[in-house]
Amino acid sequence: MVLYKKFKKNNCFEKTKYKEFFKEKLDFGKLVNFGTNKKLPIYNWFKYKEAFSKELVERIITNFNMKKEDKVIFDPFCGIGTTLLASKQLGLNYLGSDLSPLCQFITRAKLDFNRYNTKELKRELEKIKKWDIKEMRSEIKEEDSNLMKYSIFDKSFLDKDNLRELFGLKNKIENEYTNRPFVKQILNLALISILEEVSDTKKDGAFFRLIRKDNKPNVINAFVKKVNSLINSLEEYNFSLTNFLSEKKEYGDGDVKIADSRKLPFETNSVDITITSPPYLNRYDYTRIYQLELYLLFCKSFEELRNIRYNTIRSHVEAKYKDFGIFNSEILKERLEKLSKRELNNQRIPYMIQGYFDDMFLTMKELYRVTKKKGIIVFVVGSTRFSGVSIPVDTILLEIGEQSGFTPVEVWITRYKGNTPQQIQKYGLEAVRESIVILRKD
Ligand SMILES: C[S@@+](CC[C@H](N)C(=O)[O-])C[C@H]1O[C@@H](n2cnc3c(N)ncnc32)[C@H](O)[C@@H]1O
Repeated sequence: MVLYKKFKKNNCFEKTKYKEFFKEKLDFGKLVNFGTNKKLPIYNWFKYKEAFSKELVERIITNFNMKKEDKVIFDPFCGIGTTLLASKQLGLNYLGSDLSPLCQFITRAKLDFNRYNTKELKRELEKIKKWDIKEMRSEIKEEDSNLMKYSIFDKSFLDKDNLRELFGLKNKIENEYTNRPFVKQILNLALISILEEVSDTKKDGAFFRLIRKDNKPNVINAFVKKVNSLINSLEEYNFSLTNFLSEKKEYGDGDVKIADSRKLPFETNSVDITITSPPYLNRYDYTRIYQLELYLLFCKSFEELRNIRYNTIRSHVEAKYKDFGIFNSEILKERLEKLSKRELNNQRIPYMIQGYFDDMFLTMKELYRVTKKKGIIVFVVGSTRFSGVSIPVDTILLEIGEQSGFTPVEVWITRYKGNTPQQIQKYGLEAVRESIVILRKD
């Protein structure tokens, strides 16, 4: 609370023509992150700290009166599918995409929640418990033997039996369930969900850390436990449907693709409302944090993974893209000039910042194209601070929206966030906002 008062005193607002659009909605603070999803069946199938909550999506849909069957909800950075799943459950049609094949897979696996047969899954789980672990460890595909030799697997699995068990299990699922796509899908979801637990690694904010763990479960035990919890989750969801709903539930329909937000594979004038959250400008490289998951099921080589990394939004210094310097704004120019006089811990930071807004500009233009007239765009974003210089992502996004043809509607400030102790010590405290930026296509 003391900190919050300090933030209020410390004016974190820029003097721009957009100031009047800002409204405090601090009751949304808890909804812009994954926290409230942790106990929700299906939403909690895969831990993805970068996700937002189901309730946020529901409140936005209600707020903009989109609860009608003919409406299409869209998310071009769909992550683990929160927007799409909430829309489907509300009976609304949805479209979504993400650059990461891992995200597309998880989203699809969750969206198929009403197509799994829990009795069949339980029967299969009983068979799996009897699989011969020794045999499994020895049956590894040749392309996987090559992947296993990558230093990242070598360092992440100090116990080599566990590593062989992992790839053996992958192979076994592939062979046993080729003709039963839904069983295979849920088993593969379980397989990628246990990687942090069974390896000597830890996802720690922006970092993927290697840490020795002495009491790890072995792969097959962790896998059986996870499959069991997925089945329980489906049963819990079905139970709440049959016991608390008087009428039959109608679900929405839709699709999720692997796609770059800067080149969307969707038709012009096809969506009513976009509810999304792009990567924050915080240097997180998702392709590094989720590298084990990406390698295990989706990328056959380092080059494939690197290609995804280069094409992610330039929110981290390793992303690359052909267009640079295409978006101009006074406030961005002023902040970059300030930054050029500061000491930086990575010289690529100014390029990353300019590139990030260029990417948002390209994305926004695509969103303008796919959005129907009177359609709404809702972007959850976080502002940020580098070497004491604040980058007001929400304000700049309003400018980008306007330059792309949209009309600014409002910015809801959901949270004021602090800075790292190092920044406070060196440059003082200045709150950064986490906001919901809303635009309309008139
Ligand atoms: C903040 S997360 C979205 C989380 C999502 N709202 C949820 O609830 O799961 C941002 C997503 O953007 C994706 N991404 C990064 N670069 C992209 C690009 N160029 N095109 C599309 N998606 C991209 C990342 O893979 C990540 O899943």
